[in-house]
Parts: sequence; structure tokens; C-alpha cells
Amino acid sequence: MVMIDFHLSQQLKRQAMRHTTLRQLEVFEAIARLGSFTRAAEELHLTQPTVSMQIKKLTDAVGMPLFEQVGKKVYLTEAGRALQNFSREIFDHFTHFEMLLADLKGLKQGRLRLGVITTAKYFIPRLLGAFCRQYPGIDVAMKVSNRERILERLHNNEDDLYILGQPPEEVDVIAEPFLDNPLIVLAPADHPLAQEKNITLQRLAEEPFLVREAGSGTRIATEQLFARHNLKIRVRMELGSNEAIKQAVIGGLGISVLSRHTLPIDVMTEQIALLDVQGFPIERHWCAVYPRGKQLSVVAHTFLDYLKEAHRHIEVVTYPGIRKKKAANKPGLSGGNANKNTQAPRRTSK
Ligand code: PGA
Repeated sequence: MVMIDFHLSQQLKRQAMRHTTLRQLEVFEAIARLGSFTRAAEELHLTQPTVSMQIKKLTDAVGMPLFEQVGKKVYLTEAGRALQNFSREIFDHFTHFEMLLADLKGLKQGRLRLGVITTAKYFIPRLLGAFCRQYPGIDVAMKVSNRERILERLHNNEDDLYILGQPPEEVDVIAEPFLDNPLIVLAPADHPLAQEKNITLQRLAEEPFLVREAGSGTRIATEQLFARHNLKIRVRMELGSNEAIKQAVIGGLGISVLSRHTLPIDVMTEQIALLDVQGFPIERHWCAVYPRGKQLSVVAHTFLDYLKEAHRHIEVVTYPGIRKKKAANKPGLSGGNANKNTQAPRRTSK
């Protein structure tokens, strides 16, 4: 009898889950994302009692609490986190379907969600300008953050594409290189090395360095170069932003290695010198990255195709004093990035 009751209640629960509505999931998703019933109600233009009622019905259907409240903030329970992943997938499918329909009608429209690493903010908005003019039906949500946060977003599958200078080794991803990302050495304009040519890495290692935060792609690539020569950087100061580093270089606090993209087109040569150092520029490439197996939306494919032409939309500048290495590997979508995860595009649908 007890067994029969148990099976019956399981069956009722399953039936209840099937009656979960998209509206309930939408309300749930908003609360989970915003961490607040009030803000979710505002975003969805609903009253608080309506929001609470929808969540009560959903909780009854699931048969377990979805949120727990600590102070004013609500947190997801384990069941809540599972439901969040599930609802994300459902809404992604809907969005893809809408975009597919628009594409069949000959329109490119929908939302493109980009996760962009800090340093790429110097050129991605410029690229997006031309992209949005070309595809007025596509609207773009761009999240700029440090590497740690962007990799967390990638792990949670929160965006369509990620722009990184260094694809992660620990996650199975497709990485499509699309633009040069040379790293150069900056010093104050009156630095004694500013007039020298062909400076050795050993000599550079004697200088005090201003470095980005641990985990930054720029810092990893710089430390790797020194490590390959059994050298170590002398860190004078760690700063979490390229802008702060440039100001500190100008202020004479040390030298630094940054992406060439962090400098304005008309580089401020009066205050900053670019040093001519062996092994520099470190040649890297910006990559569009997404988890292997992810079904890219129509607009994400459209943006990837557009990125192949990125060099046409961005003014490529060569700065005086920087030796151009002989191009062994031509950057581009056909390869050129040393990362093992980088490979030519693989299209799953079009
Ligand atoms: P960063 O990334 O902003 O984390 O340094 C850029 C890069 O990898 O080149």
C-alpha cells in the first residue's frame, strides 16, 4: 500500500511537472538571474503577488524548494540550479527557432550574446559598430569581464560566443582565431632602454615590471615567454587594468607588456616608449571561442563569418620601433594559434 502511494505520488509529480508553463519558467529564470523577486517582477512588468504565485505553483510541481532566502537576497537550491540549466536550454531552443524562422524569411535578426575579455574591449565595440549597421535586426548584449569571470560564463553556457586572447586548456572548446594580438613592451619615454635596439630578454628581466592580475591572458603569455628562457619577471606592482598600467608606466613606476590594442591609434609616443626587445612582439591572436558541441544560433554564425573579415574593419597600425617578425604562420581562421584547442571552424548548421 505504501509502495502504491509512493508510485502514485511520483506519477502525480511527473504530471504536475508537465503542466509547468513557460511563464512559470520565465519568472523563475528572472529571479534566478537577478537574485530578487522584486527585480524580477519589475523586469517582467508583473506584480509581486503574481510572481510569488507562479513560483509557488512551480515549486509544488517540482516538489522541492527552488530558492532559499538569506536577508534580502534569494539563492538557488540544488534543485533550483538544475532547473535553471534546464530552463536556459529551453529558452535557448526557442531563441534559436525564432532566429531560424527569421533566417528562412531572409532576415538576420535576433540577439547575439558576447562574453568579452577585458583587453578585447579596445576593438570589439568598433567591430560591432560596422556589424550592427550591416545587420540592423541583430541586437547585441556584450559582457566585458576579466578572464576568470568570462571562463565561468563559458562554463555556464551563458553567451553565444566568447572573445579571448588565450583559449582555455581545461575546457573542450572550438577556438577560431580572427585577428592579430601582438604583445609589446612599454616603458616611460625617458627610460634608458628607449634608445637601445635588440634588447635581450635577460636585460629586460632586470627591470621592475607592472603586471596585470594573476590569470590575465596578457600576463600568462608574458610569463610563459620568460619561463621558456629560464627567466622570471620582477613584479613591482600588480594592477587589474590596462589603463592603470599605462598610467603607472607614464608615472615611471616600471615597464610592462600589454596588447598593442590597448594603445590608441595615434600612440602617445611623447609619454610612452615601445622597447625593441628580442622575442617581441609576442605574436598571439584574438579568438572567438565556444564550447565544443554547442549549437550556434544563426546570428552567432553570422558574427563568426563577419569576424573572418575583421582585419578589414579595424585599422591595422604598425608602431615605429617595433620589429615585424617574419610571418611563419599567417593568422586567420585557417589556424596559426599554437593552442591545441584552436582549429578551423566546424559548422554544425547554417
Ligand atoms: P586579458 O586577456 O585581458 O586577460 O589579459 C587578453 C589576452 O589574453 O590577450
